[in-house]
Amino acid sequence: MSAALVQQPLFEDVVTVPPTEGVKYAGSKLKLLPHIIELVRSTDARTILDGFSGTTRVSQALSQLGYKLIANDVAVWSKVFGDCYLLNKRPPSYYRALIDHLNALPPQFGWFSEHYGGSPETDSSKDANGLKKPWQLHNTMKLDAIRAEIDVLELDEIEKAVALTSLILALDTVDNTIGHYSSYLNRWSPRSYKTMQLKVPRLIPQQADHLVFQKDIFDVLGDVSVDLAYFDPPYGSNNEKMPPSRVRYAAYYHLWTTVILNDRPALFGKAKRRRDTSDRLSASVFEEFRRNPDTGRFIAVEAIEQMLMAVDARYIILSYSSGGRATAEELHEAIRKAGKLLKVINVDYRQNVMAGMKWTNEWIREDETHPHHEFLFLIEKF
Ligand SMILES: C[S@@+](CC[C@H](N)C(=O)[O-])C[C@H]1O[C@@H](n2cnc3c(N)ncnc32)[C@H](O)[C@@H]1O
Repeated sequence: MSAALVQQPLFEDVVTVPPTEGVKYAGSKLKLLPHIIELVRSTDARTILDGFSGTTRVSQALSQLGYKLIANDVAVWSKVFGDCYLLNKRPPSYYRALIDHLNALPPQFGWFSEHYGGSPETDSSKDANGLKKPWQLHNTMKLDAIRAEIDVLELDEIEKAVALTSLILALDTVDNTIGHYSSYLNRWSPRSYKTMQLKVPRLIPQQADHLVFQKDIFDVLGDVSVDLAYFDPPYGSNNEKMPPSRVRYAAYYHLWTTVILNDRPALFGKAKRRRDTSDRLSASVFEEFRRNPDTGRFIAVEAIEQMLMAVDARYIILSYSSGGRATAEELHEAIRKAGKLLKVINVDYRQNVMAGMKWTNEWIREDETHPHHEFLFLIEKF
Protein backbone atom coordinates (compact mmCIF):
# COMPACT_ATOMS: atom_id res chain seq x y z
CA MET A 1 0.00 0.00 0.00
CA SER A 2 1.48 3.37 -0.90
CA ALA A 3 1.55 6.09 1.69
CA ALA A 4 0.29 9.61 1.31
CA LEU A 5 3.30 11.73 2.10
CA VAL A 6 2.27 15.13 3.32
CA GLN A 7 4.99 17.56 2.31
CA GLN A 8 5.17 20.52 4.65
CA PRO A 9 7.61 23.37 5.04
CA LEU A 10 9.89 23.09 8.05
CA PHE A 11 7.58 24.90 10.45
CA GLU A 12 10.26 26.29 12.69
CA ASP A 13 7.77 28.72 14.23
CA VAL A 14 4.94 26.31 15.04
CA VAL A 15 6.87 25.06 18.02
CA THR A 16 8.70 27.68 20.03
CA VAL A 17 12.29 26.52 20.28
CA PRO A 18 14.15 27.97 23.26
CA PRO A 19 17.54 29.45 22.33
CA THR A 20 20.52 27.15 22.76
CA GLU A 21 24.28 27.49 22.32
CA GLY A 22 26.98 25.15 21.03
CA VAL A 23 30.09 24.53 18.98
CA LYS A 24 30.03 23.49 15.33
CA TYR A 25 29.35 19.75 15.60
CA ALA A 26 28.80 16.96 13.10
CA GLY A 27 25.27 15.67 13.60
CA SER A 28 24.16 18.52 15.89
CA LYS A 29 20.39 18.46 16.09
CA LEU A 30 19.93 22.24 16.13
CA LYS A 31 17.75 22.15 12.99
CA LEU A 32 15.74 19.19 14.21
CA LEU A 33 14.86 20.79 17.55
CA PRO A 34 11.32 21.87 16.52
CA HIS A 35 10.51 18.31 15.51
CA ILE A 36 12.08 16.71 18.55
CA ILE A 37 10.13 19.08 20.80
CA GLU A 38 6.94 18.37 18.88
CA LEU A 39 7.38 14.63 19.38
CA VAL A 40 8.26 14.98 23.07
CA ARG A 41 5.19 17.17 23.57
CA SER A 42 2.95 14.54 22.00
CA THR A 43 3.74 12.31 24.98
CA ASP A 44 3.09 12.87 28.68
CA ALA A 45 6.81 12.52 29.51
CA ARG A 46 8.36 14.65 32.27
CA THR A 47 11.78 13.01 32.67
CA ILE A 48 14.07 12.59 29.68
CA LEU A 49 17.35 10.80 29.00
CA ASP A 50 19.41 12.52 26.26
CA GLY A 51 21.65 9.49 25.72
CA PHE A 52 24.14 10.96 23.18
CA SER A 53 24.04 14.59 24.22
CA GLY A 54 26.95 15.99 22.12
CA THR A 55 26.63 19.78 22.18
CA THR A 56 23.78 19.38 24.73
CA ARG A 57 21.55 21.57 22.56
CA VAL A 58 18.64 19.11 22.84
CA SER A 59 19.03 18.97 26.62
CA GLN A 60 19.37 22.76 26.82
CA ALA A 61 16.13 23.27 24.89
CA LEU A 62 14.14 20.64 26.78
CA SER A 63 15.35 21.83 30.18
CA GLN A 64 14.03 25.30 29.36
CA LEU A 65 10.65 23.76 28.59
CA GLY A 66 10.43 22.33 32.10
CA TYR A 67 11.55 18.75 31.53
CA LYS A 68 13.94 17.03 33.93
CA LEU A 69 17.03 15.90 32.01
CA ILE A 70 19.64 13.23 32.30
CA ALA A 71 22.30 14.12 29.72
CA ASN A 72 24.92 11.54 28.83
CA ASP A 73 27.70 11.25 26.27
CA VAL A 74 30.95 9.35 26.22
CA ALA A 75 32.83 12.56 25.31
CA VAL A 76 34.38 14.75 27.99
CA TRP A 77 33.43 17.98 26.17
CA SER A 78 29.76 17.02 26.34
CA LYS A 79 30.11 16.52 30.12
CA VAL A 80 31.65 19.98 30.42
CA PHE A 81 28.86 21.57 28.33
CA GLY A 82 26.27 19.65 30.36
CA ASP A 83 27.76 20.78 33.69
CA CYS A 84 27.77 24.35 32.38
CA TYR A 85 24.27 24.55 30.90
CA LEU A 86 22.32 22.01 32.99
CA LEU A 87 23.86 22.06 36.45
CA ASN A 88 24.55 25.76 36.95
CA LYS A 89 22.17 27.49 39.35
CA ARG A 90 23.90 30.90 39.46
CA PRO A 91 22.94 33.91 37.33
CA PRO A 92 25.18 34.77 34.32
CA SER A 93 26.32 37.96 36.11
CA TYR A 94 28.13 35.79 38.68
CA TYR A 95 30.65 34.79 35.98
CA ARG A 96 31.29 38.28 34.52
CA ALA A 97 34.42 38.98 36.60
CA LEU A 98 35.91 35.54 35.85
CA ILE A 99 35.44 35.91 32.08
CA ASP A 100 36.77 39.50 32.11
CA HIS A 101 39.82 38.30 34.04
CA LEU A 102 40.51 35.50 31.51
CA ASN A 103 40.12 37.86 28.55
CA ALA A 104 42.57 40.35 30.07
CA LEU A 105 45.45 37.87 30.56
CA PRO A 106 48.62 38.64 28.58
CA PRO A 107 49.09 36.05 25.79
CA GLN A 108 51.90 33.54 26.37
CA PHE A 109 53.63 31.00 24.12
CA GLY A 110 53.07 27.49 25.51
CA TRP A 111 52.24 23.88 24.54
CA PHE A 112 49.15 24.72 22.47
CA SER A 113 51.02 27.40 20.49
CA GLU A 114 53.91 25.03 19.87
CA HIS A 115 51.63 22.40 18.27
CA TYR A 116 48.58 24.22 16.97
CA GLY A 117 49.50 27.87 16.36
CA GLY A 118 50.40 29.09 12.88
CA SER A 119 51.85 32.31 11.55
CA PRO A 120 49.57 34.61 9.52
CA GLU A 121 52.52 36.11 7.63
CA THR A 122 51.45 34.41 4.41
CA ASP A 123 47.91 33.25 3.62
CA SER A 124 49.00 29.60 3.99
CA SER A 125 48.45 27.96 7.37
CA LYS A 126 51.40 25.59 6.87
CA ASP A 127 54.39 25.66 9.20
CA ALA A 128 58.04 25.05 8.22
CA ASN A 129 57.34 21.28 8.22
CA GLY A 130 54.37 21.65 5.90
CA LEU A 131 51.80 21.02 8.68
CA LYS A 132 48.54 23.00 8.49
CA LYS A 133 47.29 24.67 11.66
CA PRO A 134 43.84 25.05 13.24
CA TRP A 135 44.43 28.52 14.74
CA GLN A 136 46.66 31.53 14.33
CA LEU A 137 49.38 32.06 16.88
CA HIS A 138 47.82 35.17 18.45
CA ASN A 139 44.82 33.02 19.45
CA THR A 140 46.77 29.96 20.64
CA MET A 141 48.85 32.29 22.82
CA LYS A 142 45.64 33.51 24.41
CA LEU A 143 44.57 29.87 24.76
CA ASP A 144 47.86 28.98 26.48
CA ALA A 145 47.50 31.83 28.96
CA ILE A 146 43.81 31.26 29.68
CA ARG A 147 44.02 27.49 29.98
CA ALA A 148 46.93 27.69 32.43
CA GLU A 149 45.08 30.28 34.53
CA ILE A 150 41.91 28.13 34.74
CA ASP A 151 43.97 25.51 36.59
CA VAL A 152 45.54 28.11 38.87
CA LEU A 153 42.25 29.67 39.94
CA GLU A 154 40.48 27.68 42.60
CA LEU A 155 37.25 27.10 40.70
CA ASP A 156 34.54 24.70 41.71
CA GLU A 157 33.40 22.14 39.15
CA ILE A 158 30.62 24.28 37.70
CA GLU A 159 32.76 27.43 37.53
CA LYS A 160 35.44 25.44 35.74
CA ALA A 161 32.88 24.02 33.29
CA VAL A 162 31.58 27.54 32.58
CA ALA A 163 35.15 28.85 31.98
CA LEU A 164 36.06 25.90 29.72
CA THR A 165 32.80 26.13 27.76
CA SER A 166 33.39 29.83 27.25
CA LEU A 167 36.96 29.13 26.07
CA ILE A 168 35.86 26.39 23.65
CA LEU A 169 33.04 28.52 22.21
CA ALA A 170 35.52 31.37 21.66
CA LEU A 171 38.08 29.07 19.98
CA ASP A 172 35.32 27.74 17.73
CA THR A 173 34.69 31.24 16.36
CA VAL A 174 38.29 31.73 15.16
CA ASP A 175 39.11 28.24 13.80
CA ASN A 176 40.72 27.37 10.50
CA THR A 177 38.67 24.24 9.81
CA ILE A 178 35.56 23.04 8.03
CA GLY A 179 33.95 22.27 11.37
CA HIS A 180 36.10 19.52 12.84
CA TYR A 181 39.73 19.02 13.78
CA SER A 182 40.87 15.96 11.87
CA SER A 183 42.31 18.23 9.18
CA TYR A 184 42.84 21.98 8.81
CA LEU A 185 42.41 24.43 5.96
CA ASN A 186 45.35 25.21 3.74
CA ARG A 187 44.61 28.94 3.43
CA TRP A 188 43.72 30.84 6.59
CA SER A 189 39.98 31.26 7.00
CA PRO A 190 38.89 34.90 7.35
CA ARG A 191 37.67 34.24 10.92
CA SER A 192 41.05 32.92 12.05
CA TYR A 193 42.47 36.49 11.83
CA LYS A 194 40.03 37.70 14.50
CA THR A 195 41.05 37.84 18.11
CA MET A 196 39.05 35.44 20.19
CA GLN A 197 36.96 36.92 22.95
CA LEU A 198 35.44 34.85 25.73
CA LYS A 199 31.80 35.53 26.61
CA VAL A 200 29.69 34.41 29.52
CA PRO A 201 27.81 31.40 28.13
CA ARG A 202 24.06 31.67 27.68
CA LEU A 203 23.23 30.31 31.10
CA ILE A 204 19.75 29.66 32.39
CA PRO A 205 19.95 29.33 36.16
CA GLN A 206 18.45 25.85 36.58
CA GLN A 207 15.64 25.15 39.03
CA ALA A 208 15.46 21.38 38.50
CA ASP A 209 18.10 18.88 39.55
CA HIS A 210 19.30 17.57 36.21
CA LEU A 211 21.99 14.92 35.95
CA VAL A 212 25.00 14.83 33.63
CA PHE A 213 27.03 11.69 32.94
CA GLN A 214 30.07 10.90 30.83
CA LYS A 215 29.59 7.21 30.16
CA ASP A 216 29.15 4.66 27.45
CA ILE A 217 25.40 4.45 26.91
CA PHE A 218 25.34 0.78 27.89
CA ASP A 219 26.77 1.69 31.30
CA VAL A 220 23.96 4.19 31.90
CA LEU A 221 20.95 2.16 30.86
CA GLY A 222 20.92 -0.12 33.90
CA ASP A 223 20.94 2.87 36.28
CA VAL A 224 18.23 5.15 34.91
CA SER A 225 14.49 5.00 34.61
CA VAL A 226 12.86 7.81 32.63
CA ASP A 227 9.61 8.57 30.84
CA LEU A 228 11.33 9.15 27.50
CA ALA A 229 14.77 8.44 26.07
CA TYR A 230 16.14 10.42 23.13
CA PHE A 231 18.86 8.52 21.27
CA ASP A 232 21.03 10.25 18.68
CA PRO A 233 23.89 7.81 18.15
CA PRO A 234 26.58 8.35 15.52
CA TYR A 235 25.84 6.17 12.53
CA GLY A 236 28.19 4.08 10.50
CA SER A 237 26.53 4.50 7.14
CA ASN A 238 26.28 1.57 4.81
CA ASN A 239 24.81 2.86 1.62
CA GLU A 240 25.46 0.59 -1.32
CA LYS A 241 25.48 3.59 -3.67
CA MET A 242 27.93 5.65 -1.68
CA PRO A 243 31.20 4.84 0.03
CA PRO A 244 30.77 4.25 3.76
CA SER A 245 31.15 7.44 5.72
CA ARG A 246 32.11 7.62 9.33
CA VAL A 247 32.15 10.33 11.89
CA ARG A 248 34.69 9.52 14.52
CA TYR A 249 33.80 11.97 17.25
CA ALA A 250 36.86 11.38 19.41
CA ALA A 251 39.07 12.05 16.37
CA TYR A 252 37.07 14.99 15.02
CA TYR A 253 37.05 16.90 18.30
CA HIS A 254 40.32 15.75 19.86
CA LEU A 255 41.26 19.35 20.53
CA TRP A 256 38.26 19.91 22.82
CA THR A 257 39.42 16.91 24.86
CA THR A 258 42.92 18.35 25.13
CA VAL A 259 41.72 21.85 26.01
CA ILE A 260 39.58 20.36 28.79
CA LEU A 261 42.12 17.88 30.18
CA ASN A 262 45.16 20.13 29.56
CA ASP A 263 47.23 16.96 29.73
CA ARG A 264 49.78 17.54 26.95
CA PRO A 265 49.11 14.14 25.38
CA ALA A 266 51.29 12.23 22.91
CA LEU A 267 50.29 13.34 19.38
CA PHE A 268 50.36 11.71 15.97
CA GLY A 269 49.64 12.46 12.31
CA LYS A 270 49.31 15.61 10.25
CA ALA A 271 46.51 17.05 12.37
CA LYS A 272 48.46 16.29 15.57
CA ARG A 273 45.64 14.29 17.06
CA ARG A 274 45.87 12.78 20.51
CA ARG A 275 47.32 9.31 20.21
CA ASP A 276 44.37 7.95 22.23
CA THR A 277 42.00 9.07 19.44
CA SER A 278 43.44 6.71 16.85
CA ASP A 279 40.68 4.61 15.24
CA ARG A 280 42.02 1.51 16.91
CA LEU A 281 41.60 2.95 20.40
CA SER A 282 38.56 5.20 20.18
CA ALA A 283 36.04 3.56 17.89
CA SER A 284 32.43 3.48 19.11
CA VAL A 285 30.32 0.45 18.29
CA PHE A 286 27.77 2.88 16.82
CA GLU A 287 30.40 4.11 14.36
CA GLU A 288 30.90 0.59 13.01
CA PHE A 289 29.42 0.11 9.54
CA ARG A 290 30.54 -3.45 8.91
CA ARG A 291 28.50 -6.60 9.38
CA ASN A 292 29.00 -8.91 12.32
CA PRO A 293 30.63 -12.03 10.81
CA ASP A 294 28.74 -14.26 13.28
CA THR A 295 25.22 -12.92 12.71
CA GLY A 296 25.56 -11.27 9.28
CA ARG A 297 23.86 -8.15 10.69
CA PHE A 298 25.20 -4.59 10.81
CA ILE A 299 27.14 -4.12 14.04
CA ALA A 300 25.77 -0.60 14.61
CA VAL A 301 22.17 -1.74 14.11
CA GLU A 302 22.66 -4.63 16.52
CA ALA A 303 23.91 -2.14 19.10
CA ILE A 304 20.88 0.10 18.51
CA GLU A 305 18.56 -2.86 18.95
CA GLN A 306 20.28 -3.85 22.19
CA MET A 307 19.93 -0.26 23.44
CA LEU A 308 16.24 0.01 22.48
CA MET A 309 15.53 -3.26 24.28
CA ALA A 310 17.53 -2.36 27.41
CA VAL A 311 16.35 1.19 28.13
CA ASP A 312 13.87 1.63 30.96
CA ALA A 313 11.62 4.23 29.34
CA ARG A 314 8.01 4.29 28.20
CA TYR A 315 8.86 6.23 25.05
CA ILE A 316 11.91 6.42 22.82
CA ILE A 317 12.74 8.98 20.18
CA LEU A 318 15.44 7.68 17.85
CA SER A 319 17.31 9.92 15.40
CA TYR A 320 18.59 8.29 12.25
CA SER A 321 20.36 9.66 9.17
CA SER A 322 19.78 7.71 6.01
CA GLY A 323 22.19 4.92 5.45
CA GLY A 324 20.73 2.88 2.62
CA ARG A 325 18.13 0.20 2.17
CA ALA A 326 19.86 -2.68 3.94
CA THR A 327 20.46 -0.67 7.11
CA ALA A 328 16.93 0.74 6.97
CA GLU A 329 15.30 -2.66 6.79
CA GLU A 330 17.37 -4.00 9.65
CA LEU A 331 16.70 -0.90 11.72
CA HIS A 332 12.98 -1.18 11.11
CA GLU A 333 13.14 -4.74 12.36
CA ALA A 334 15.04 -3.64 15.48
CA ILE A 335 12.44 -0.97 16.22
CA ARG A 336 9.59 -3.45 15.77
CA LYS A 337 11.15 -5.80 18.29
CA ALA A 338 11.42 -3.07 20.94
CA GLY A 339 8.03 -1.42 20.69
CA LYS A 340 5.26 0.16 18.68
CA LEU A 341 6.37 2.72 16.13
CA LEU A 342 3.93 5.58 16.74
CA LYS A 343 5.26 8.21 14.38
CA VAL A 344 8.02 8.82 11.83
CA ILE A 345 9.21 12.28 10.84
CA ASN A 346 11.33 12.58 7.75
CA VAL A 347 13.22 15.82 7.26
CA ASP A 348 14.92 16.87 4.04
CA TYR A 349 16.90 20.00 4.76
CA ARG A 350 17.94 20.55 1.19
CA GLN A 351 14.36 21.00 0.05
CA ASN A 352 13.33 22.53 3.36
CA VAL A 353 10.43 20.14 3.76
CA MET A 354 9.36 17.50 6.17
CA ALA A 355 6.96 14.68 5.57
CA GLY A 356 4.69 13.10 8.10
CA MET A 357 4.22 9.46 7.14
CA LYS A 358 0.86 7.83 7.11
CA TRP A 359 2.26 4.31 7.22
CA THR A 360 5.13 3.90 9.57
CA ASN A 361 6.98 1.37 7.41
CA GLU A 362 6.94 3.73 4.43
CA TRP A 363 10.14 5.39 5.64
CA ILE A 364 12.25 2.48 4.38
CA ARG A 365 11.42 3.24 0.75
CA GLU A 366 11.98 6.98 1.38
CA ASP A 367 15.36 6.18 2.85
CA GLU A 368 16.34 4.33 -0.28
CA THR A 369 15.21 6.99 -2.72
CA HIS A 370 16.43 10.00 -0.69
CA PRO A 371 19.76 9.15 0.85
CA HIS A 372 20.20 12.46 2.66
CA HIS A 373 17.16 12.49 4.86
CA GLU A 374 17.03 12.58 8.62
CA PHE A 375 14.40 10.54 10.41
CA LEU A 376 12.90 10.77 13.87
CA PHE A 377 11.07 7.73 15.20
CA LEU A 378 8.70 7.93 18.15
CA ILE A 379 8.43 4.48 19.71
CA GLU A 380 6.29 3.28 22.59
CA LYS A 381 8.03 0.41 24.32
CA PHE A 382 6.26 -2.90 24.81
C1 LIG B 1 25.13 12.58 16.51
S1 LIG B 1 26.09 13.03 17.89
C2 LIG B 1 24.94 13.68 19.04
C3 LIG B 1 24.60 15.12 18.73
C4 LIG B 1 23.68 15.78 19.74
N1 LIG B 1 22.33 15.25 19.72
C5 LIG B 1 23.63 17.27 19.44
O1 LIG B 1 22.59 17.80 19.05
O2 LIG B 1 24.67 17.90 19.61
C6 LIG B 1 26.54 11.47 18.58
C7 LIG B 1 27.23 11.50 19.94
O3 LIG B 1 27.39 10.17 20.43
C8 LIG B 1 28.52 10.13 21.28
N2 LIG B 1 28.84 8.71 21.46
C9 LIG B 1 29.45 7.84 20.60
N3 LIG B 1 29.47 6.60 21.09
C10 LIG B 1 28.85 6.65 22.32
C11 LIG B 1 28.54 5.67 23.32
N4 LIG B 1 28.90 4.40 23.16
N5 LIG B 1 27.89 6.08 24.44
C12 LIG B 1 27.54 7.38 24.61
N6 LIG B 1 27.82 8.36 23.69
C13 LIG B 1 28.45 7.99 22.57
C14 LIG B 1 29.53 10.99 20.54
O4 LIG B 1 30.49 11.49 21.44
C15 LIG B 1 28.62 12.10 19.96
O5 LIG B 1 28.60 13.24 20.78
